[in-house]
Amino acid sequence: MATALALSMLTIYFAAAALSPSIPAASAAVKKYSVSSYGAKPDGKTDSTNAFLTAWNKACSSPSPSTVHVPAGRFYLKNVAFQGPCKTKSIMFRIDGTLVAPSDYSVIAKVGNWILFRHVNGVIVSGGTLDGQGASLWSCKAAGKSCPTGARQNLEFSNSQNVQINGLTSVNSQLFHIMTNGCQNVKVKGVEVTAAGNSPNTDGIHVQSSAGVTILNSRIGTGDDCISIGPGTTNLWIENISCRPGHGISIGSLGKQLHEAGVQNVTVKTITFTGTGLARGSPGGYCSSTPL
Ligand SMILES: *[C@@H]1O[C@H](CO)[C@@H](O)[C@H](O)[C@H]1NC(C)=O
Ligand SMILES: *[C@@H]1O[C@H](CO)[C@@H](O)[C@H](O)[C@H]1NC(C)=O
Repeated sequence: MATALALSMLTIYFAAAALSPSIPAASAAVKKYSVSSYGAKPDGKTDSTNAFLTAWNKACSSPSPSTVHVPAGRFYLKNVAFQGPCKTKSIMFRIDGTLVAPSDYSVIAKVGNWILFRHVNGVIVSGGTLDGQGASLWSCKAAGKSCPTGARQNLEFSNSQNVQINGLTSVNSQLFHIMTNGCQNVKVKGVEVTAAGNSPNTDGIHVQSSAGVTILNSRIGTGDDCISIGPGTTNLWIENISCRPGHGISIGSLGKQLHEAGVQNVTVKTITFTGTGLARGSPGGYCSSTPL
């Protein structure tokens, strides 16, 4: 009697065990979407914009954590907006290669953005190089011709939460390199930013209307500010930054508009400057800065 009961319980246990593994395994698997599967070509000249968008849309509509993968090689990309909200709160955008902007500067300058993530939550951009090909626009400006203002950044996160940018290299943007606008909880680390010392308005990292941004262990050398802090920035932490030619770290320009949001609680720790200055504020804005 006792043996029979034990046996039947054993049977029930095994039946349950046989059913259950498929459920957790399916939800834990990371879905991977390579841009190459959707027609992107690593030749630096085939327009891969739609392939990137398709891979993004698949990753974004996946209910489980997902990865967009950009393999090695040069991928030609026009202006592109990776739009949320997404089903999953965990998307890894892993770049092994280089994303190259059009050499005709007017293509992205007309739109005003190059690579934009909008309304996303839990996106990590990891590795890779962004080449904004800004030099032709800079020489147009230097020659005093009538030229467009330029796309405002190589990479922007706007209205997003819980973002990380890790080990990314950004070169030769038309204007700013990396920008957060209207974001909460952003970590930027191990980033390398380079543009010619005489390139106009090529700020390295620009933060505005954002709370809880941390910028760590990065090397920035551009023709303008290494890091610039715009209106509405709170709880910004900047640590271990090497700031080579450029204008240093600046708060402002503030006070351009009436009733503009202030800047509060900015911490700057361990910065190596070469031929730059630290933290010029500009009149008009309310600033409270607490360097360690
Ligand atoms: C500071 O950042 C550099 C990269 O620019 C990195 O190599 C170094 O390990 C960092 N130092 C610390 C103490 O984290
Ligand atoms: C200031 O910002 C840091 C993050 O940079 C945060 O840890 C700290 O709590 C903030 N302080 C106040 C008073 O909000």
